[in-house]
Amino acid sequence: MGTMKRMMLAIPILGVMALAFLLLALAPAASSAPIGTAAAGKAFWDAQWCSRCHGANAEGAYGPDLAGRGLSFQHVARAVHQPWGVMPAYTTQQVSDQTVADLVAYFNSLPAASEPGPWRTTVPAGAPLGQRLLIETAGCGQCHGDVLGNPRRSAGGEGADFAWFEELVYHHTQEFPTGRMGNFSKARLTEDTLLAIWNWMTQDVGLRVPVTAAVNAAAAADGNVNYTLTVQNTGKAGKGLAAGNLYFSMVVPAGSTVVGASTSRSTLVSASGSSSTLPAAAGYQGVQATADGSNVASWLAPVVGPQEKVTFTITVRGNGAAGGSQAFVRWLSPTRSASPGVDGEYIQTGLVRP
Ligand code: HEC
Ligand code: HEC
Repeated sequence: MGTMKRMMLAIPILGVMALAFLLLALAPAASSAPIGTAAAGKAFWDAQWCSRCHGANAEGAYGPDLAGRGLSFQHVARAVHQPWGVMPAYTTQQVSDQTVADLVAYFNSLPAASEPGPWRTTVPAGAPLGQRLLIETAGCGQCHGDVLGNPRRSAGGEGADFAWFEELVYHHTQEFPTGRMGNFSKARLTEDTLLAIWNWMTQDVGLRVPVTAAVNAAAAADGNVNYTLTVQNTGKAGKGLAAGNLYFSMVVPAGSTVVGASTSRSTLVSASGSSSTLPAAAGYQGVQATADGSNVASWLAPVVGPQEKVTFTITVRGNGAAGGSQAFVRWLSPTRSASPGVDGEYIQTGLVRP
């Protein structure tokens, strides 16, 4: 058979195939893509954390630019639910078809980006491998910062192991079905890579302790005011890490003096093995003047274990008694070696008035 004849046969076949492709491409768009609005897409974009990787205006950053590219419903739906690279996959509960349609309308309402924006989190100079991996390779750093502060804190409170970590990375939406983080794929972010990240978190910088602090102010009899600082280690009983070597202070309002101080410690839920005790008065250090001329009442404690709650109260009297107080809580262990030169961690509360 001559070349000419084969071509004559091939052309009609190609024509039919092209038509079939065209129909396949058009049919789902016509039947299943909801009508989206740019305003709803923008509202989702501004509330969710896609922007942490793709830029505030979808101009691109860690992830590619999406603005003004004429992306289709199918393309975006596929990218969100079955990403082809390292991007985490989002479920239809997190990103519905309607949301995809809204996002498409929003992206296509924006001007195309001339160049991508900067990464939110970049690799610090001299970063060890585990830290490089979590920022560059996996993209965790775009949402969690360069030292994975929150996951390290949650893991410390759980007394977590690698299995816990893997579950929350690969099957994240089982624990957080409507969360802002999707499910990472083992094929793209391998267990070896994740283990290197975990080793860095637990061995190089170490896990953190979930400590909370809050001040409460209440007017008492005779114009006195009670300021109470409540500090809790919210980690899991018997499992979470303890905070050690703690210092607590509360501002004594200007124009007032401390007429009473007390301390109490309780366990949030009954926990076996919670043995640390803080004798009522032993931890109280009295009132000291600070460098800026204000006075603080302070306490020390060796340890606050998981599910322990410690409260410190000062009763103040004087014209300025209602002026408000705020607290500072610091614990030296575990040391957060992620920040060289910074020992331990601290919390500072806002000013609270009765
Ligand atoms: C951890 C960073 C990260 C987050 C968070 C993220 N993406 Fe992505 N996205 C990427 C990367 C990287 C790619 C490139 C392909 C890949 O890696 O899967 C991508 C690809 C895409 C694409 C395909 C773009 C193209 O050029 O084909 C779309 C669409 C998209 N993402 C939308 C979203 C939406 C919507 C969200 C939020 C629900 C989101 N992304 C969250 C990093 C991210
Ligand atoms: C799109 C932003 C985003 C990215 C990217 C991301 N996370 Fe998250 N992550 C979150 C948010 C937000 C939560 C809180 C639960 C939720 O909303 O899903 C969370 C929760 C977690 C938790 C559960 C413990 C906790 O702190 O609540 C772990 C562990 C975790 N992330 C680890 C990682 C790791 C490891 C990576 C990279 C492989 C990563 N995350 C990437 C946003 C992100």
